[in-house]
Amino acid sequence: MCYAIPGKISSIEGKTVKIDYFGELRKAYNEIHDLHIGDYVYAQGGFVINRLPAEEAESILALWKEEFFELQKVDLRISKMDVEKSGIDKKLSAILDKAALGAQLAYDEILYLFSLKNKESLGYLFKTANFLRQKHHGNSCCVHAIIEISNICRRQCSYCGIASYNKNIKRYRMTVEEILDTAREAIEDYGFKALVLQSGEEAGYEIDDLAYVIKTIKEKWPALIFISFGEIGLDNLKKLYEAGARGLLMRFETSNPVLYGQLHKGQEFKTRIEHIKYADKIGYLILTGGLIGLPGQSYEDMANDILLARDLNAEMFSFGPFIPHQDTPMSDKAPIQEDEIIKMLAIARICDQKKAKILVTTAMETLNLKSREKALLAGGNSLMLNMTPLKYRSLYSIYPNRAHEKESMEKQINDAISLLSSIGRAPTDLSI
Ligand code: 5AD
Repeated sequence: MCYAIPGKISSIEGKTVKIDYFGELRKAYNEIHDLHIGDYVYAQGGFVINRLPAEEAESILALWKEEFFELQKVDLRISKMDVEKSGIDKKLSAILDKAALGAQLAYDEILYLFSLKNKESLGYLFKTANFLRQKHHGNSCCVHAIIEISNICRRQCSYCGIASYNKNIKRYRMTVEEILDTAREAIEDYGFKALVLQSGEEAGYEIDDLAYVIKTIKEKWPALIFISFGEIGLDNLKKLYEAGARGLLMRFETSNPVLYGQLHKGQEFKTRIEHIKYADKIGYLILTGGLIGLPGQSYEDMANDILLARDLNAEMFSFGPFIPHQDTPMSDKAPIQEDEIIKMLAIARICDQKKAKILVTTAMETLNLKSREKALLAGGNSLMLNMTPLKYRSLYSIYPNRAHEKESMEKQINDAISLLSSIGRAPTDLSI
């Protein structure tokens, strides 16, 4: 299994290196001391992850080469802008032409896209997003692993099944050994190059334990490590960066501070944003976004969510639907329609054409398993597979009946890879 393609170092300037992939050069940040021109490395998210022996790299590259260009061809064919414009109004046509040419849309144009309802118009929007994804990000789709290390949480978010007020679930906290073992399995056995460690907020770990886990993983099984432990404080963000974490997954949930206040008792919107901005400042890659379809959320809010994620310098957008959980005060609310979710992802792709990857979330698949493919064909280019040990996975019940809750890792990987290859995507974090 392969989630990254090895590349060859072609130049080194301080901490910046250029890596050659089948003749194309990509820049990456290097923290390996004795790296030399000609060395083969894996890189992920713009960071050099590790070096590998030339023989091993060359045999992997030989396997990849043909398939890679074959996949590219399929993707290129599928993402062509062959739209039948008969049912499309002139205003929409003008806006999407402007977007396809790379221009920034005005706020009212973005809102116009949100107002779309009919099938033809939505189809045209999704096609434009797919075209732009292909143009700027190529056929790569990054596949990260996530381990949910504990469902203990001090917060009282009104939508969340693991909020502290929920007394109906069994709480768990993986031991340091269990976390290390699962991380090793994800990286060594299954070949993941990027790993997200997630828990509720204040799950009962000492910061030094988390730092130890990160440091040990980095030393023993190099990977790009993202943390998602909630608002741990700026000093602790720094500590975990120093331990080797290089990405922060923290959604701001909604950009509307009033709605934020209503949903997050005792929490402040500005503290959350402060965490994200500080993490960005000290060098973390930022994965952020919010919930789609919150009761009371308007199209303006959703447009602002996209613009905020972009302003926060997001490396990846993580926008997923709100799903009602039976043990929360929002149990009687209805989830949003699938088209509205994909619309959000497509508009996000159009508003941030070049930088952010767009995650296809498990929450969306929970509403409809087929939506993974639809989202990948409307701007999405990232997946996160759940590596949490099966005995704990169903306890991380932020919402009920999560997709893939009972699936082995092998099944999740096989399904993801076969879907990706059927639509011409390579499971790599590399745009060629
Ligand atoms: N529906 C969908 N997503 C949820 N999350 C929490 N509760 C729900 C829910 N009911 C999401 C939050 C959080 C992430 C870890 O899980 O957006 O950031």
